[in-house]
Amino acid sequence: ADNRRESLMIVSGFAAKFFHESLLDTDEGQAIGLSYFKERGFSTETIKKFELGYSPDQWEAFSSKALKEGYKEEFLLDSGLSVKRDNGTLYDRYRGRVMFPIHNFTGRVIAFGGRTLKTDKNVPKYVNSPESEIYHKSNVLYGLYFAKKAIRDEDNCYLVEGYADVISVHQADIENVVASSGTSLTVEQIRLIGRLTKNVTILYDGDAAGIKAALRGLDLILEEGLNVKVVLFPDGHDPDSYVRLVGTAGFKKHIDDHKKDFILFKTDLLLKEAGNDPIKKSEVIRDIVESIAKIPDSIKASVFIKECSSLLQIDERALLSELNKMRQAKA
Ligand code: UTP
Ligand code: MN
Ligand code: MN
Ligand code: MN
Ligand code: MN
Repeated sequence: ADNRRESLMIVSGFAAKFFHESLLDTDEGQAIGLSYFKERGFSTETIKKFELGYSPDQWEAFSSKALKEGYKEEFLLDSGLSVKRDNGTLYDRYRGRVMFPIHNFTGRVIAFGGRTLKTDKNVPKYVNSPESEIYHKSNVLYGLYFAKKAIRDEDNCYLVEGYADVISVHQADIENVVASSGTSLTVEQIRLIGRLTKNVTILYDGDAAGIKAALRGLDLILEEGLNVKVVLFPDGHDPDSYVRLVGTAGFKKHIDDHKKDFILFKTDLLLKEAGNDPIKKSEVIRDIVESIAKIPDSIKASVFIKECSSLLQIDERALLSELNKMRQAKA
């Protein structure tokens, strides 16, 4: 089984090299892929560091090259790089896409995300590798290999949604950044971060989906005993577009000015929805206390109860008794 895993990593590394060379050394790759990345503001250094690539817009460019070089069909299929036709021949999963290799904790390539260059809404924006023996997407954070040192040094991890967010923020010299790319945040991913730091700052897209994902992520992170803050970006922006708009200093300032602990984030958000409706308002309070009840550390929880009490102007004892009820219901 370890042999199989090693073979899958070797073929994935070969594919990353193939896509990277297609991007930098072929006319098609330069004209289509490289110019796309350059337009996005990615520097050559960044492109090399993240081993970004381009998959030629042909059915078998990669598969036939790989077979010719002696890579076994079994591993081409199991890695998801190739797909089998009914007649038994192979074709490429990624065609005419810019390629983002996904690295494991030690820097080996284990999977890919491929972005379309078409604006056609019927084409999926990203095609990602399927699950395999080396790629369990719920256990992987995009960018972690490049971020781990900075996460330790800064004692904080920025969590973003996408590949381009990681790369642009990293390029802006903010290197403690990872993405849950393509899945909603999982407990396994939070535990990966938790080995490096106990502090997470969520930087999700400023759209409805991003806010929803942030709310969900908050509770999960709290349950794992980590500290979490949230920063939203102006609607229509994500960390990638925003850091390119305002630069490193402006980006850091936005984070400083807008970062909210989870109580403040939830209170602001939910109260805005509830307006003056007292029933809705009490639901909001219950919702927040429910989040606090998930914090394993009871001293931390009581600090948040205090904050909640003063923010919402509600008697602290009422909140505490609600908290205790929820804790007992859980136990
Ligand atoms: P977004 O739709 O926010 O894309 O999805 P993005 O990262 O900002 O991409 P650009 O800037 O348009 O290039 C966030 C992340 O969700 C995953 C990808 O990991 C993406 O980076 N995703 C999105 C998919 O896996 N498949 C999709 O079709 C779309
Ligand atoms: Mn498995
Ligand atoms: Mn989005
Ligand atoms: Mn984006
Ligand atoms: Mn986005």
